[in-house]
Amino acid sequence: MALRKVKLSARLEAVAKMVPEGTYLADVGSDHAYLPISLIQRGIISYAQAIENKMGPFLRMQGNVDDSGLSSHIDVSLSDGLDKLNDGVQTLCLCGLGGMLTCQILEKNLDKLDNIKTIICDPHHDLVAVREKISALGYHISDEKMVYENKIYYTIIRFDKGDLNKPYNYHDLHFGPIARRERSQVFLDWIEINRKAVGEQLNKNLSPERKEAYLRLYRALASEAKGTASK
Ligand SMILES: C[S@@+](CC[C@H](N)C(=O)[O-])C[C@H]1O[C@@H](n2cnc3c(N)ncnc32)[C@H](O)[C@@H]1O
Repeated sequence: MALRKVKLSARLEAVAKMVPEGTYLADVGSDHAYLPISLIQRGIISYAQAIENKMGPFLRMQGNVDDSGLSSHIDVSLSDGLDKLNDGVQTLCLCGLGGMLTCQILEKNLDKLDNIKTIICDPHHDLVAVREKISALGYHISDEKMVYENKIYYTIIRFDKGDLNKPYNYHDLHFGPIARRERSQVFLDWIEINRKAVGEQLNKNLSPERKEAYLRLYRALASEAKGTASK
């Protein structure tokens, strides 16, 4: 019996829109497996690997895949990160994971990246580290989208193999080279919230180094807000 169509959250829908049509996807940290199930149900892709490293989420993911009737299209794997990545996978989704964990998962299995053309992630923190790390691995940022959902700002980033539009400057690494050019309302709201938060930090008793770092960030945020930062 086929499961009813999976409806994705706004964040996962933005992720889904970045997945290349027809790709072989590995969803790392898949949990409920909604992303691969929905992509296959909509005919955007035909095959996926759903990876989980914890038994509880793995069983939930396996149950949803079985219930969806898609177990011949989605290979479920109880494994850490890319340790048991299937041959032929072309696209990685690392969503709902911290930025540092995203970097560690990639770093642990660098040899597995040879065939990976696209990496999509939505790190809540440590966006600078993620943009730096994945760029250094030979990818460039090809798409970015900011989503505000359940009072949280998410940045979804797609990286594709190759060195276009690089290197990234301070503003690109902090705010996203595409997001800062597109200047969506969600982006502008996020910039303003951060500008105020950094401004409050500057009123505190900071070490000279921290003060200098916060001042630089504050000035960058202010120029992004005004639209005067050089692109
Ligand atoms: C917050 S959920 C995100 C689920 C889904 N990807 C999404 O974006 O809605 C993160 C999942 O990643 C899994 N996870 C964390 N570290 C992992 C690793 N090294 N390898 C595989 N899965 C991992 C967790 O068990 C958890 O189920």
